[in-house]
Amino acid sequence: MELKIYKDYEQLSANAANEIADLLKQKPGAVICLASGDTPKLTYQLFAEKVINENIDISNCTFIGLDEWVGIPPENEGSCQYFFRKYLFEPLQVTPGQTYLFNALSSSFEEECKKMDETILAKGGIDLMMVGIGMNGHIGFNEPGVSFDLYSHIVNLDETTVTVGQKYFNSQTALQKGITLGLRHFMESKRAIVLANSAKKAGIIKKALEDEISNHVPATIIRTHAQGVVMIDEEAASLLK
Ligand code: F6R
Repeated sequence: MELKIYKDYEQLSANAANEIADLLKQKPGAVICLASGDTPKLTYQLFAEKVINENIDISNCTFIGLDEWVGIPPENEGSCQYFFRKYLFEPLQVTPGQTYLFNALSSSFEEECKKMDETILAKGGIDLMMVGIGMNGHIGFNEPGVSFDLYSHIVNLDETTVTVGQKYFNSQTALQKGITLGLRHFMESKRAIVLANSAKKAGIIKKALEDEISNHVPATIIRTHAQGVVMIDEEAASLLK
């Protein structure tokens, strides 16, 4: 695992955007799994600008959505699907056939997980997984206590996730379950990047990088990924030894 510390959020986001763009220049048919949330917003905006300005061909790549709030419809602006459409798919005119997102309203989440796992397998695995880190150390909705061996699965959301997750919604929203890719996908992805910015992430970044590797802090798993990179700004790095 490699640790990269950038001066600020802008620098971090510019470098993260370059990671995605560089991969697509080398491998136009890449399979890329991305998170939603506040952390990668600027990364995606800068990535979209780069694609347009540098005329990067993204018509053959695949975008996989990392997770979704179960029961939250896609038109709700707190949903991951809404986020992906707003920050990536619409600005980049990504075609629906290139995107694979969990259906939050599915009548069978078991089927939904199976479909996602089969899609990833059929596409030869994930080339790049770029994720954020939750205040409780989660990756996607792989909450504290999760098995490191899981592919896609349904979870009961951790209390911290339910509380912190309200920030994405316009009004108080009942959040109970999530559907997410698993840490097995994360470990099997050819490159795995964790992004974090701001002082509020300093405590959990310290745990992720300095605590014993265990499912108590799921993000500790990044330290066992041979092609793992943690990209953070100076504020998020401020408590590291
Ligand atoms: C979102 C996701 C979550 C977030 C994490 C950090 O798709 O999978 O794990 O990446 O909760 O969220 P932000 O970036 O809002 O701090």
